[in-house]
Amino acid sequence: MAAFTPRVFSGIQPSGGLTLGNYLGAMKRFVTMQDEGKFETVYCMVDLHAITVWQDPAALTRATRELCAGFIAAGVDPSKSILFNQSQVAEHAQLAWIFNCVARMGWMQRMTQWKDKAGKNSQNASLGLFAYPALMAADILVYHATHVPVGEDQKQHLELTRDIAIKFNNDFGVDFFPETEPVIEGAATRVMSLRDGSKKMSKSDPSDMSRINLIDDADTIAQKIRKARTDPDALPSEVDGLDDRPEARNLVNIYAALAETTPEAVLADHGGSQFSAFKPELADLAVNKLAPISTEMSRLMEQPDGIDRILGHGAEQARALAAPILKKTYEIVGMVGA
Ligand code: TRP
Repeated sequence: MAAFTPRVFSGIQPSGGLTLGNYLGAMKRFVTMQDEGKFETVYCMVDLHAITVWQDPAALTRATRELCAGFIAAGVDPSKSILFNQSQVAEHAQLAWIFNCVARMGWMQRMTQWKDKAGKNSQNASLGLFAYPALMAADILVYHATHVPVGEDQKQHLELTRDIAIKFNNDFGVDFFPETEPVIEGAATRVMSLRDGSKKMSKSDPSDMSRINLIDDADTIAQKIRKARTDPDALPSEVDGLDDRPEARNLVNIYAALAETTPEAVLADHGGSQFSAFKPELADLAVNKLAPISTEMSRLMEQPDGIDRILGHGAEQARALAAPILKKTYEIVGMVGA
């Protein structure tokens, strides 16, 4: 296997607001990987993926800028990481076409996200939704990315990315694309709904009380935590005591992630407390950590031109990495003029 520069790529869809789940499950890790200095870090707003289901154009524009503001407010530094939106770097779509011709129908049909999203009416789903994982493979492999931090739900897409890399290398007798490693989030960073501890916190949940949005102000955050569903018992002093108590576990996990400690340590301090005492402490912690992010996001959103400049600059840097890899791919495939 050829040696590849250690490079991280990850993407988030600009399709609605950002939640605490995006922050703790994705962005915070993106920042850590950026600051560790072990990798080059490339972070993308995947607008081409967003339009695989209908997006109102004005809402898409706004969501892309808001996502960029969220990345920066969370600590992604455009002078340390490459930060851009996917559609500005045409190489993603170009490599995706090649991969559409490498991936097999059967592989795509097995994708659980396709089955879930297309549902019973798959004949009416967009062709783009079906091809979504080949574009995702292109996002990653157009940078020869070696590591991809993603949620558990994206693991199957990462396996498909490896299958595409292996088949391409094999079909053309080259050692060109890396077998990218997923970096899957730990259970403690999987943030669940505040209304139902068995469901992931989601921007598409009909109840706004089920999630904390990164743009919520301090009072809203505190109110949502106070009203979060819990059971009547006190907190246990060991994590085993959270078995079968999904809502209690979720609040402890959120506390631990925000305080940058472990659930064990949280329970060592708060075991025996009632939720009536624990929730105000969690609310204070959440407001302290999240209010500065929300303030910074609003500040950045007041200057959309500034955001667009950052994204334009990021796209240039991304293109500088992607263009030679696409050119080489075209050569390998036998395209004249590559
Ligand atoms: N499919 C990912 C999600 O919905 C988003 C995504 C697109 C992505 N391209 C990517 C994630 C490449 C990691 C790497 O979460």
